[in-house]
Amino acid sequence: MIRIRRADLADAQSIRQIHRRSVETLCREDYTKEQIQAWTMPPDSRLLESSVVEDDTWVATCRGVVCGFGSRVRSEVVALYVDPASVRRGVGRALLAQLENLIANDGMHRITLASTLTAEKFYQAHGYVAVAHDIHLLRSGISVPIVSMQKDLGS
Ligand SMILES: CC(C)(COP(=O)(O)OP(=O)(O)OC[C@H]1O[C@@H](n2cnc3c(N)ncnc32)[C@H](O)[C@@H]1OP(=O)(O)O)[C@@H](O)C(=O)NCCC(=O)NCCS
Repeated sequence: MIRIRRADLADAQSIRQIHRRSVETLCREDYTKEQIQAWTMPPDSRLLESSVVEDDTWVATCRGVVCGFGSRVRSEVVALYVDPASVRRGVGRALLAQLENLIANDGMHRITLASTLTAEKFYQAHGYVAVAHDIHLLRSGISVPIVSMQKDLGS
């Protein structure tokens, strides 16, 4: 049973671990070792906790255990990561639906996001279209290719 709830500070470590496992396992075909290492470099605890609180962050639980999380800032989906042990069971879809509802309820009509190369097909399956192939600069200074995507609500 997948449940979605708002994240709180007590979820920060689960979020950090799922982010690392998800990137290391699911994105390894699409990014180099150096890129994955830079991307999974742990943020300091204050940065992580402030992003849990300040971004609108939600977690999915599978049988009571956190198995994915997603965040949005205004009309942008800024994170969506599922534990490798829980992929293709609808966790990503449930989290994305929650973020989309929040954005729609705020009266915004276009959702934007920077997709990993790994998640492009997932977003396509949910009505997002690629608008550009871009480069995202990580905190470490290493850059990674991403796909800028958008979806018009109600389309
Ligand atoms: C992308 C991601 C969030 C998808 O989560 P998920 O829980 O596995 O996705 P769901 O089970 O909800 O998938 C719903 C539908 O999306 C599509 N989909 C999901 N993953 C897909 C893939 N790898 N390739 C093609 N279609 C995919 C399918 O249509 C799927 O339905 P189906 O399983 O009945 O065929 C997850 O794979 C992930 O965390 N990836 C690594 C991290 C990442 O790149 N995150 C994106 C950051 S922008």
